[in-house]
Amino acid sequence: MNNNLTIDQSSNQSNDQSKDQDNFWFKLKKPIFGLSPMDGVTDHPYRFIQKKYGKPAVIYTEFTNVEGLCHGAATLLKDFIYDETQRPIVAQIYGKTPEYFRQTAVIVSQLGFDGIDINMGCPAKSVDHSGSGAALIQTPALAQEIIKATKLGIQDYVEGKRAKDCDDISEAISKKVEQLHQLLPKKYQKARLIPVSVKTRIGYSNVIVEEWITTLLEMKPAAIAIHGRTLKQQYSGNANWNEIKKAADLCHQTKTLILGNGDVQNFQDAQRKINDYDVDGVLIGRATFGNPFIFIDSQDNKKNQDNKATSHKTIFNVALEHSQVFEQTYSNNPRYNFLPMRKHLGWYVRSISNAKIVRADLFKTNCAKEVKSILKKYKLL
Ligand SMILES: Cc1cc2nc3c(=O)[nH]c(=O)nc-3n(C[C@H](O)[C@H](O)[C@H](O)COP(=O)(O)O)c2cc1C
Repeated sequence: MNNNLTIDQSSNQSNDQSKDQDNFWFKLKKPIFGLSPMDGVTDHPYRFIQKKYGKPAVIYTEFTNVEGLCHGAATLLKDFIYDETQRPIVAQIYGKTPEYFRQTAVIVSQLGFDGIDINMGCPAKSVDHSGSGAALIQTPALAQEIIKATKLGIQDYVEGKRAKDCDDISEAISKKVEQLHQLLPKKYQKARLIPVSVKTRIGYSNVIVEEWITTLLEMKPAAIAIHGRTLKQQYSGNANWNEIKKAADLCHQTKTLILGNGDVQNFQDAQRKINDYDVDGVLIGRATFGNPFIFIDSQDNKKNQDNKATSHKTIFNVALEHSQVFEQTYSNNPRYNFLPMRKHLGWYVRSISNAKIVRADLFKTNCAKEVKSILKKYKLL
């Protein structure tokens, strides 16, 4: 690793993100309030609801595995469902094989995403043990190769390559990608040099912010989002924002934006952390559960929001709408079931006095119609 930020960048000429005119990151108003990617949570319906009611400045998909995509797992494309209301939308991918990142970057570009984020922070055993996610903190040369390969894939797309031209992309996947591409608005059917960002942690076993962030900065990502815990900590203890500040100091010497992440409780807490730790913005994860209004006070929204928006009645209407969007999005799938929606319903009702009883009923629902009748039964609608 190189601790000198003024290193020779000649090894990284391709797709220089700082010169990219179509880089949405640099067009965002600072501070940036974004929705953190969460596997099993931030699917299309969740992102749709969060964007509609809170308008986070940037949102990411759940992470999607590049090895899976390049080995023909067409079902993974469901993670890439989004609609135009969600822009700017970043596709998050993970894995350990640079060549697969390159080919997945072609897919993501063809699908019209505004950016690609590489997960270098997931602590899940299955991900870590495969050498992906946060494990990449221990293999910095590979991490750099992966960023480079992703940028090359975006460049390939701009130069005319499509999913069907990629060696490891199955026909089923490339056909589906082409179909989805045809449905994009004309503007997004044009090839764009989209930016690459990284989401990571402050270390693997120990905190190594200086050397790790310096390694990443050598590859000139457009943005780095950093969760203030090591892999070893998983989600225990408190996020270490003093270490996030060190990452911010390094990023501020470059054009890479820095987003802090970890334990942000609400909008005021986000603002405080942005000021105290000098980050360009934050990503909020768990505090968004059942609370699509968490971003409501962000600069862009302040004027237009209805103060009554956070009233309970509104939240339960949103819960119903979320259920309906969930059903519309996935019910055509032969293996569809309503189970993944139930946890959201639990989160929506957690602040009411009889939450336990209502939640027990909601956990038995199998469709939006049943959700409506339960909410009515308890006079929540
Ligand atoms: C259920 C769950 C799933 C997650 N999945 C992802 C993921 O797919 N990609 C990612 O970069 N981080 C993932 N994370 C980490 C979050 O994005 C975030 O970094 C972490 O929750 C800390 O932020 P918070 O305290 O605001 O929740 C996940 C976290 C949770 C709780």
